[in-house]
Formats: sequence, C-alpha cells, structure tokens
Amino acid sequence: MPKPYAAITGVGGYVPDYALTNEELETMVDTNDEWIKTRTGIAERRILKGEGFATSDMCEKAVKELLKKTNTSSSEIDLVICATVTPDMLVPSMSNVVCDKTDIKNAFCFDLNAACSGFLYALTTGAKFVESGSHKKVLVIGADKMSSIIDYTDRTICIIFGDGAGAVLLEPTKAEEGIMDSVFKSDGAGRHFLYQKAGGSLYPPTHETIDAREHYIKQHGRTVFKSAVKGMSEVIEKILERNHLKADDLDWLVPHQANKRIIETTSRMTGFPMEKVMVNIQKYGNTTAATIPLCLWNYEKQLKKGDDLLLAAFGGGFTWGATWVKWAY
Ligand SMILES: CC(C)(COP(=O)(O)OP(=O)(O)OC[C@H]1O[C@@H](n2cnc3c(N)ncnc32)[C@H](O)[C@@H]1OP(=O)(O)O)[C@@H](O)C(=O)NCCC(=O)NCCS
Repeated sequence: MPKPYAAITGVGGYVPDYALTNEELETMVDTNDEWIKTRTGIAERRILKGEGFATSDMCEKAVKELLKKTNTSSSEIDLVICATVTPDMLVPSMSNVVCDKTDIKNAFCFDLNAACSGFLYALTTGAKFVESGSHKKVLVIGADKMSSIIDYTDRTICIIFGDGAGAVLLEPTKAEEGIMDSVFKSDGAGRHFLYQKAGGSLYPPTHETIDAREHYIKQHGRTVFKSAVKGMSEVIEKILERNHLKADDLDWLVPHQANKRIIETTSRMTGFPMEKVMVNIQKYGNTTAATIPLCLWNYEKQLKKGDDLLLAAFGGGFTWGATWVKWAY
C-alpha cells in the first residue's frame, strides 16, 4: 500500500487584544517609531495581559477555533505537538495543559523546542506520524508568550517580540498533497548569540540571577540577522533544487517573521517577488513559534487547493529549515 501524505486540513489562530505600539514603547525605552519601522518593519505587537494567563490560554483559543472550523471532536485527536519556548511551566509539558483545556484525552502529546523554527520542526514531525499510518488527526501548535521573557528595559529586544498562537490539523490523504518535502539544519555554536541564560539546570533561579535580569532573552542582533538570511536562503534553495522547482513555480513564500528586512533580503536572494510573500510582522512582531501558523491563518482565504507554499524559518540554537506544502483545501 502506498504511504499516505499528511495534509493540512485547517488552521486556527489567536492573538491577544492588547496592541503594544511603537509610540507606547517610546515611553518605556530610548527608541522611536521611525527607527523601529525602518529597521524592523514592526508597528505594533500583541501582548497577553492579566494575571494567570499563559501561553496555553492562547493555544486553547486557537485549537478550539480549529476544531470548530474542521468539524473535529477533541476525542478524535490522537497526537498533539506544541512548539514553544515559553511553556506555562517546565513540568508538566504545555501540551498536557493544552489537552486538558481543550478536552483532549489520551492523546500522545509532547512539547518541542526549536525556538523560531519550532513550528516547522513540529509540522514535519507530526507529518511523519501521519505518513507512517500510526496517527490520523494530529494537532501541530506554535505558540509563545514572548512578553514573559522579554526585558522591557532593553531597547534592542523589546521592540521585536509579541505574543500569539497558531495551530494546524494534519490528516492522511491518498492525494499527492500536504507536506511534500522538508530540509532542516542546526548549528549549536549559535547558542551564544540568542539565549535565556538563567532558569534552567545551568543557572537555576536565585536572587542574584533575577537581579542580573538573566531570566530574559538576550541576542546579538547583527549575527542573528546575517545568519537568518544565509540559513533561510540556503534551505529554500535546497528544497527548490532537489524537487526541480523554481521560485516562479511556487505560489507563496511563508517566511518566519523576525524582521521585515530579513524577509525582504531572503525573498530577493531566492527569487520571490514580495507580492508572493506572506507578511504580518507589522501588526504582530516576532511571535517566535507562532509566526508561520499565524501567517497561514491571516492568508487562509487567499489560498486555493493545489497552491504550492514554501515555509521557511530560522531561530535560536541555531535551528533552521524549509518545508514545501501543497495546500489541500
Ligand atoms: C535587532 C535588530 C533590529 C537591530 O537592528 P540593526 O540594524 O542590526 O541595528 P544595530 O544592532 O546594528 O544597532 C544600530 C544602532 O541602533 C541602536 N539601536 C538598537 N536598538 C534600538 C532601538 N530600539 N531604537 C533606537 N536605536 C536602537 C544601537 O544602539 C546602535 O547604535 P550605535 O550605532 O550608536 O551603536 C536587528 O539586528 C535584527 O532584527 N536582528 C535579528 C533579530 C532576530 O530576528 N531575532 C529573533 C530570532 S529569529
């Protein structure tokens, strides 16, 4: 029997109501709207406000929307993969919490951390379970409450990130569509350029680590920028080459939303005109694992069955990858 393909059969998303604008950031750090817009393309980002709200609450909203749209009952879901760097807590996994909040019982579930590449890593992982025949209704979620690990006194980082969640459903199909091919790479030497120093087993929380603000992420912006352009271009070209495709043959490029200039440079280097590139960074900033599913969620109405999409991401680790998807609905 030929192996089934894993098709994306629906998308759900959620962003919090509160918009943190560049104007508000001007009152918090030494920055200005013009600098932020020219250097990053971001005008505002959404922030999950309020005591007791965590990443799983955004996942719950995205998943409930997805189940409703696809007429799927929570009892049918047999695998849940949550890509995140901001789980509600370290134990249990966020996927357990999401299952509880969405009434999914007895599913195989786990979290996956590949920073901004997390959703793509999770999408291919989920697809393998569908293609093997072992699982039939797989939820792949990318979600982050970045505001929980951002230092709002550090102007080099607080202007970039926002909160959000996106989810897709993967199901088997006999048609030749869905997840067609993926290329993934990593380079652990990149760990020195984007990291959260304290809070793990190396530096468990102490008064000193908190006073030193080491529970917030830090990055070397220029190194990350250059590595992202180089890494994403490399994997996009690899996918095109090994599938005998040209950028012209594809309908959409769906890049991780880290910086508008990274998106534009990568698109130019790989031959994608900006009309074919999904962009929502201006309104959400970088939501880490959520950027790609949120793009699919925003552009869903413009997608047609048979469209060819190239999803590409780069993130902390470093991790990076690209996935060719044939849209199935
Ligand atoms: C962070 C980033 C926006 C900074 O932009 P940049 O053009 O590289 O800017 P630089 O770091 O070279 O800094 C240029 C100047 O702007 C200043 N600056 C930095 N942040 C600023 C801000 N928010 N407002 C105003 N000025 C700022 C710097 O201090 C520096 O000043 P100097 O020249 O007097 O030293 C950019 O490097 C970037 O997007 N990197 C990738 C980050 C990323 O995607 N991370 C997520 C992982 S996928």
